[in-house]
Parts: sequence; structure tokens; C-alpha cells
Amino acid sequence: MLSYRHAFHAGNHADVLKHLILVQLLRYMVQKDKPFLVVDTHAGAGGYSLESDYATKLGEFAGGIGRLWQRKDLPEAVAAYVDLVRRFNRNDRLRFYPGSPWISWQLLRPQDRMRVFELHSTDSPLLAKTLAEGKQQIQITAGDGFAGLRAALPPPSRRGLVLIDPSYELKSDYHDVVQAVQEGLVRFATGTFAIWYPLVAKVEAHRLPEKLAHLPAHRWLNVTLSVHKPANDGFGMAGSGMFIVNPPYTLETTLRETLPWLTQALAQDDHAQFTLEGGENPVPTARKARPDEYSLEATPPRQAPVGAKPGAPRRPPIHPFAFPGAKAEEGRGPKRPAAPGRSGAKPGTSEAKPRPRSQGPATNSRKKP
Ligand SMILES: C[S@@+](CC[C@H](N)C(=O)[O-])C[C@H]1O[C@@H](n2cnc3c(N)ncnc32)[C@H](O)[C@@H]1O
Repeated sequence: MLSYRHAFHAGNHADVLKHLILVQLLRYMVQKDKPFLVVDTHAGAGGYSLESDYATKLGEFAGGIGRLWQRKDLPEAVAAYVDLVRRFNRNDRLRFYPGSPWISWQLLRPQDRMRVFELHSTDSPLLAKTLAEGKQQIQITAGDGFAGLRAALPPPSRRGLVLIDPSYELKSDYHDVVQAVQEGLVRFATGTFAIWYPLVAKVEAHRLPEKLAHLPAHRWLNVTLSVHKPANDGFGMAGSGMFIVNPPYTLETTLRETLPWLTQALAQDDHAQFTLEGGENPVPTARKARPDEYSLEATPPRQAPVGAKPGAPRRPPIHPFAFPGAKAEEGRGPKRPAAPGRSGAKPGTSEAKPRPRSQGPATNSRKKP
């Protein structure tokens, strides 16, 4: 039984990073006339009230979208994302926050299609309601997104974007994500896959980007944004990451320009930082991986980043091209006061308790570069 409800976390710093990148990916997709498919494997409810008891209980949105809402100096990529949140609110007051499927839907053209999956029995009907007007082009499934992804790929048009955004409530999610992308690449080697993951003190979370980097994709980009120092007791989520397989070429430049500003805007202490690194794989991606070649259990060591101590990579195909470990000076910022939470509207129906997306003891702290 799933207990995670995104309503407790909607609009937090992790949503900002994820949705900002999602908007950039979609803006790139619509540049070509050819239709494309969006698959959102873990869609959530599609929209959230920031005045509900869920959102105000933790008030996480105050440290995310709440930090950006009133700013007049948003970089272009941040403005594009905040504009969509404004559209969801229909006026100047921040009362609601859109989920990933609603954001994607706004950027679809009539020829594009979307498939969304949500397993939670409370959130899937809410999702159907939120997307009701889009039913001509959106297929909504109350079911398992990992299984659904297999059936959705490849898209008939051979153009597509897959967002994989589990709650990591189940330890198996880490394994399932890698397997889903691995299988997805076999079916659809040129597809873009965007995977969100938490920066938490768990060995599975630490290893996830390493495993993804060794899948046989042509290119990848890994972005992290931490808003504060990891807690000494290993609990909580100091930041999050987005791993993009087959990113558009423009994304790296956009993020390099945007992340210093965003890190400063969301910083909760002077440990806030971002990282941006990528790799290229010259191996033709259309071939099938042998089952033993990209074992999920024994991932070969990742190629050392440029400028790092030479390691002993077993496989040569990953060629990092960007700057790893950018603890950008501009990316550090002073602690900012959190915007006040709001209360008022009654929540929908749920007995669920607030739950961090993932947390656990410090088995393997994520190393800061
Ligand atoms: C982090 S939330 C999604 C948030 C959403 N992508 C957004 O950005 O607005 C993860 C969601 O995945 C759902 N979920 C968990 N396991 C799932 C599965 N195997 N298939 C589909 N949905 C699942 C949870 O109920 C939860 O609503």
C-alpha cells in the first residue's frame, strides 16, 4: 500500500528543479513539427492546493515556488516555468501548484499525445479530473507506470519524452528506474528520458546516477541542486537531481546559465550548491544490450570526470564533456526567510501521513565535490 502523497511536497525546491527542466525539454520538443509522445510514469494528482492542510503542514512550497513567485529578476528559463504556475493560478496570488502532467499538457500541440500513470487510488481519480479537458490527447491509466512504459514505447512518431518521477517510497524503485530506462532505450534508443531522484543518505540514491550513466545512451546530463547541508543524522532531503538521457543539445547551456541564479534563490544555508555534468557515448545506441552487459547489480565504474584523478574505468564509452562538481561561487547564497505558509481550504480525502520522499540512515552520504 502506497502512503506517499505528493500534496505534502508540491511546489518545493525539488519540484522547482524538476518542472523547470521539464518545461525546457518540452520547449525543445515543440520546435519540430513532427508529433511527439510524453509519458509520465508517476504522475501524481496533476494539481495541488497550497492552502490545503497537506501543503501547509510542512510548508515546503515556501522554500520552492514561494521563493520565486514575487521575484522580478527571473532568468528566462525560470520565467518560462513560473509563467505556467501563474497560468494554473489564474491570478496573482499563489494558491495552487501544477503537477508534471498538467505542465506537459500545457505545452502539447494538437498533434502531440500524452500517456500518464498513477497507482495511488486517491490520486489517480484526482489526476483524471485535473486532465479531464485533455482527454482527446491524453490517455490516463490508474496503474503501474513502470509496466505501462514498456507498452508505450516506442511511440509511433519515434519522438518522445519520458518523465520518471517515483516517490522512492519503495527501495525497489531505484532498481526499477534503471531497468525501465535500460529497457526503454532498447525499444526507443533516441527517446529522451528524464529521471528525478532525491539527494539523500542512501546508497541506492547515491548509485542511481552512476548506474544511469552507464546505460547505452548516446548522451546524458546529470543535474543536482542542494539547498542546504545534509543533516548530520542522515535524515531528510538536502536536494535533488535530474538525470536526462538523450537531452537536447541546448539544455546544458541553459542550465549552466540558470543554475547559479536558481541555487542562490533557493539556498537555505551556505552549503547550497549545484552540479552539472554530462557524458557522450559513441557506441551505436540502436543495438540491443546483452543481458549481462549493463548489469544493475554490478555497474562498472564511471569514467573519471575531466580534471579528476584518473580512475580505472572498465568501459570507455562515456566521455564527460561538462564541468563536474561546480560548487559555484554564485551558487552560494545567504539564508533567506521562508515565506509564511497558508491555511484554509480543507484537504481532499486521505489518511496518509506526511512523508519525505525518501529518507534513511547515513549509510552512504552523497559526497559533495
Ligand atoms: C513524486 S510523485 C509524482 C509527482 C509528479 N510527477 C509531479 O511532478 O507533479 C510520485 C507519484 O507516483 C505514484 N506511484 C508510486 N508508485 C507508482 C507506480 N509504480 N506507478 C505509477 N505511479 C506510482 C505515487 O502515488 C505518487 O503520486
